[in-house]
Amino acid sequence: TKQKLWGGRFTGKTDPLMHEFNQSLKYDKRMYRADITGSIAYAKALHRSNILTEDEQNKIVAGLTQVGQEWENGTFAVQPDDEDIHTANERRLSEIVGPLGGKLHTGRSRNDQVATDLRLWLQEEIKNVDEGVRGLIRVLVERADNERDYLMPGYTHLQRGQPIRWSHLLLSHAFSFRADLNRLKDLTPRVSTLPLGCGALGGNSFNVDREFLQQELGFDSLAENSLYGVGDRDFVVEFLMWASLTMTHMSRIAEDLIIYSTAEFGFITLSDAYSTGSSMMPQKKNADSLELLRGKSGRIFGQMAGFMMTLKGLPSTYNKDLQEDKEPLFDAVDNISASLKIAEGVIATLQVHPEKMFKALTTDVLATDLADYLVRKGIPFRETHHVSGRAVALAEARQCQIHELSLEDFKSLHPLYTEDVMDIFNFETSVEKRNAIGGPSRATLDRQIAVLREALAA
Ligand code: ARG
Repeated sequence: TKQKLWGGRFTGKTDPLMHEFNQSLKYDKRMYRADITGSIAYAKALHRSNILTEDEQNKIVAGLTQVGQEWENGTFAVQPDDEDIHTANERRLSEIVGPLGGKLHTGRSRNDQVATDLRLWLQEEIKNVDEGVRGLIRVLVERADNERDYLMPGYTHLQRGQPIRWSHLLLSHAFSFRADLNRLKDLTPRVSTLPLGCGALGGNSFNVDREFLQQELGFDSLAENSLYGVGDRDFVVEFLMWASLTMTHMSRIAEDLIIYSTAEFGFITLSDAYSTGSSMMPQKKNADSLELLRGKSGRIFGQMAGFMMTLKGLPSTYNKDLQEDKEPLFDAVDNISASLKIAEGVIATLQVHPEKMFKALTTDVLATDLADYLVRKGIPFRETHHVSGRAVALAEARQCQIHELSLEDFKSLHPLYTEDVMDIFNFETSVEKRNAIGGPSRATLDRQIAVLREALAA
């Protein structure tokens, strides 16, 4: 059998189970593009350091390009001894260009190589995920723009609080995702820090021009310390934290919609495209899409927590534990990417039942307006709150709604209630009165939509 890449000092053979245990190619092969890109840049840097002649550089670049194409069109033949994507690509390169291939790794280690690859890979994925978040915000804003006539109860503690617009609720979630977009942008420069040229841990003695590498690979900055360069995985943690928080937002909008889609609420109906049935109960239409979105948030948070446990207590620089960075990251990227698309589809296609939302508006949600009425006549709010509370209690005792109390009832509660108190019992008016920035009135919704559209355009 052929010697392993690192086999020089070994006489004994690797235990077969250990061989498999150690092998990361099955999942890290998805970084093949990044690995080729990083190696091409490194070959050019080696030429600039006079380690490779121009002809050698060109042969290696051509060979690497071919290896990349083989991955691309599915003809790359994996060999049993290909431990990871780095050894697989180098092995194949040497088959193509001969012993010259062995010069590529001069001054480089898989330690600076793998950290470079993962950072390159993640930067590409961040672009996709960013697009996914934008798509979700866009569909929330579109619906909000078209459905601002729909009034519904706004809830605290899942108890009816005040009337709001359905659009106001949709936009509240859009603002969480807008904050996520900002956070993603904020963490990206830290992903875009280049470790290539740090070697195994102690730097590079071939005078490799790291600023050239930075330029070639389009990174924002260089890892300024080689030990840090090969040992740092904070960029993985940060992305996992970002994904956990974004999925927490996903879970919360999913929970709202799950509740609203129950027969008890009936505010929305999910499209068949995003629902499933029961194998036993023929009538069932379950919101599986939303439940999966809620469920995935736990899974992604788990990837984050798990990987932080992996990092905790590691001694300086590279340790093989760090190979455990990829599966949680890949899993989180895959699941959040899919979640964003599903959420966008669910929201784009769900059916809204404004009449059901309106029916849920009992006039007790106007009790605050009833108190505010007296505030406008000069009574301190703490006092008017009690007066309005007594109106609620009175209606409760009579088993009616507060708008069914008579003018005499109101006058008995407070002499400053006059005929126009009955004008309070209009949900539309109540919503339109709350027109300070951030409120649910039409004008303040316009502003919210404008702010979000501006964020989407940026
Ligand atoms: N497959 C390894 C990883 O993912 C690459 C680096 C291996 N380096 C080493 N010294 N064993 O981390």
